[in-house]
Amino acid sequence: MTVAVTVTALGAGGDGLAAAPDGGRLYIPYAAPGDRLVVEPGAKAGDGRRASIVERLADGPDRVTPPCRHFGDCGGCALQHIADAAYRDWKRSRVVDALRRSGFGAGLVGELVPATPGDRRRIRLSVRPAGRRLALGFNAAASHRIVAIEECPVAAPQLVRLLPQLRERLAPLWPHGRAGDLALTLTDGGVDLLLVVAGEFAAGARVGLARIAEELDLARISLAADDRATPEPIAVRRPATMRFGPAAVVAPPGGFLQAGAQSERVLVELVLAAVPDGAVVGDLHAGSGTFALALAPRARRVHAFDRDGPALEALVAGARAAGLGPKVSVERRDLDRRPLGARETRTWTVAVLDPPRAGALAQAEAIARSTVPLVVYVSCNPTSFARDAAAMAAHGLHLQQATPVDQFLWSPHVELVAVFRRSA
Ligand SMILES: C[S@@+](CC[C@H](N)C(=O)[O-])C[C@H]1O[C@@H](n2cnc3c(N)ncnc32)[C@H](O)[C@@H]1O
Repeated sequence: MTVAVTVTALGAGGDGLAAAPDGGRLYIPYAAPGDRLVVEPGAKAGDGRRASIVERLADGPDRVTPPCRHFGDCGGCALQHIADAAYRDWKRSRVVDALRRSGFGAGLVGELVPATPGDRRRIRLSVRPAGRRLALGFNAAASHRIVAIEECPVAAPQLVRLLPQLRERLAPLWPHGRAGDLALTLTDGGVDLLLVVAGEFAAGARVGLARIAEELDLARISLAADDRATPEPIAVRRPATMRFGPAAVVAPPGGFLQAGAQSERVLVELVLAAVPDGAVVGDLHAGSGTFALALAPRARRVHAFDRDGPALEALVAGARAAGLGPKVSVERRDLDRRPLGARETRTWTVAVLDPPRAGALAQAEAIARSTVPLVVYVSCNPTSFARDAAAMAAHGLHLQQATPVDQFLWSPHVELVAVFRRSA
């Protein structure tokens, strides 16, 4: 059964919101505020139902033509159909709304730093054998169907133009009947390719992979059976380096890297602007050193922590090669299970937190209970961030400003950098 509705707003996931005739809430993908639509309600979703667009009767004022031909089919983007200004307002509101629910005012949230199309330097694609060919692309929305991407205005063009060749050249080598993933990262040494698939690559197939690295001029090809396995390099033609401050770091295959080159620069600038010269810094969730190594030249000391051993090894090697070794120390540590407390942080003047989406409640509380006077918190999830911010405020660390950064263009996700100071 179809119903006619008017879209009133965008929800947190980027879907259009509308009231169904029975009063229930409808979540409508690819709808824009003000759209008059005929929709078909479907499965239950949260406090309402999902609904799909059957017909657009009249378009809302902010609806625009999406720039990508795959929009609406590919599940990667949710918001290409919204005009820039309205899209940016909505993105910033993701942070404002999350903070408001935790008792913080909208005045603490700065302007959104916009994204640059083509900035995304790491992408993950789905792969599935289809006869003698390989389906290779992004998943369709809420589906395992693979959309064969031919263009992508979000990802770096150096990555997108490899896709047809990878589709063709990997097909004869790919393990029979196995689905898997390709992770492509644009490093300073060229494209780093990781194949994640639980299947055997015989000696001949490995030679074939090395030949692909040669023919496509890749920096490195590695193999992993799954995301927990340590990737095995198959061909290393050039070091897959990333520059963090003055240091060149050889990123471990499949390791964490901020999603965009320009958005990473913005995040680093915001962190640097908040940290005074001569600081003693604890960089928690340091990864391979995006912030630790950018801060090290100006800091007195940087102590970097992460639970990812290979990432910390890369950080330390990069620090030493750049002559920053004496200033930088690392410790492999699970900060959820063993958060750093007052005793270990007593000499620090700044803590930088940059946890995964789940946030870092235990660590945020422990830092708030310490004497560290300044915290810079980088987050990719306003909801867990707002929760952690409230926990810190309860122990005297007060949010001064949060700057939203649109690292994930046309998706519902948003990054932010926030500064907290201890009240006297
Ligand atoms: C969003 S990434 C940030 C990495 C780094 N700051 C950067 O910008 O490249 C989150 C990091 O937290 C680390 N991590 C996740 N859970 C952790 C935990 N429980 N304890 C310590 N580190 C953790 C991950 O290994 C990852 O390096």
